[in-house]
Amino acid sequence: METSKTYIIGNWKMNGDKALAERLAMAAMALPPKSHVQVVLCPPAIFMGELANLVDVTRIGLGGQDCHMQAEGAFTGDVSASMLYESGACYVLVGHSERRCGHGETNQIVAQKALQAANAELIPVICIGETAEQRKSGLANVVIEQQLAESIPEELAAGKFLLAYEPVWAIGSGQSATTDDIEAMHRHIITVVGKQKGAAANDVAVLYGGSVKAENAGEILTINGVSGVLVGGASLDPDAFSDIVAAAT
Ligand code: PGA
Repeated sequence: METSKTYIIGNWKMNGDKALAERLAMAAMALPPKSHVQVVLCPPAIFMGELANLVDVTRIGLGGQDCHMQAEGAFTGDVSASMLYESGACYVLVGHSERRCGHGETNQIVAQKALQAANAELIPVICIGETAEQRKSGLANVVIEQQLAESIPEELAAGKFLLAYEPVWAIGSGQSATTDDIEAMHRHIITVVGKQKGAAANDVAVLYGGSVKAENAGEILTINGVSGVLVGGASLDPDAFSDIVAAAT
């Protein structure tokens, strides 16, 4: 992905209803367009089609929150990458920690999902992040290295995916990582991806996620190596999300 772009991705998780989805979509459409800022909304999959009718997808991207690791089949309750694409999505989150922890998704499953996404013309946003225990034990870099090695499919070229670094302990806790820690980890990520993808790794956008809000977005977005933010809670508040987008200058 061109790292000259700044990605502001809102992950609504399993929140809201049709009325809120509509309000958030309208608020995103009311934002003044900026050529270097890509706003992406990730609603619950069931609202995707409705949202695609409300927003101009050439301006406001839509993304799924997850997709299945297979293209199709007997997987009750699941959604495929191509279904998301057909419903208007251009992106899909894969490997979010709530999927890794709550649904037992391994790095290998995440890689398979990323591949399915790419096959369906979606841009996978591959999420990685260490737990509080891993960070306390000094294992954060090693864990991230392994997640990167195993979650990014070999077949996926550097321009075909985004990465989101989301320390698990920072998600929904109100406590984002420090700017120094974010900068150091993003540098580490870019170095590790460089070993896999060579010089093309410079084209990989690495987003930060974990308690991003209107108050800290501006500072986080100026950190070296940060190409955007993945926003959970604050993306459900139209004003807060608009302020975060406005911070991407
Ligand atoms: P948060 O969630 O902004 O509420 O911490 C981020 C995420 O889960 O992507």
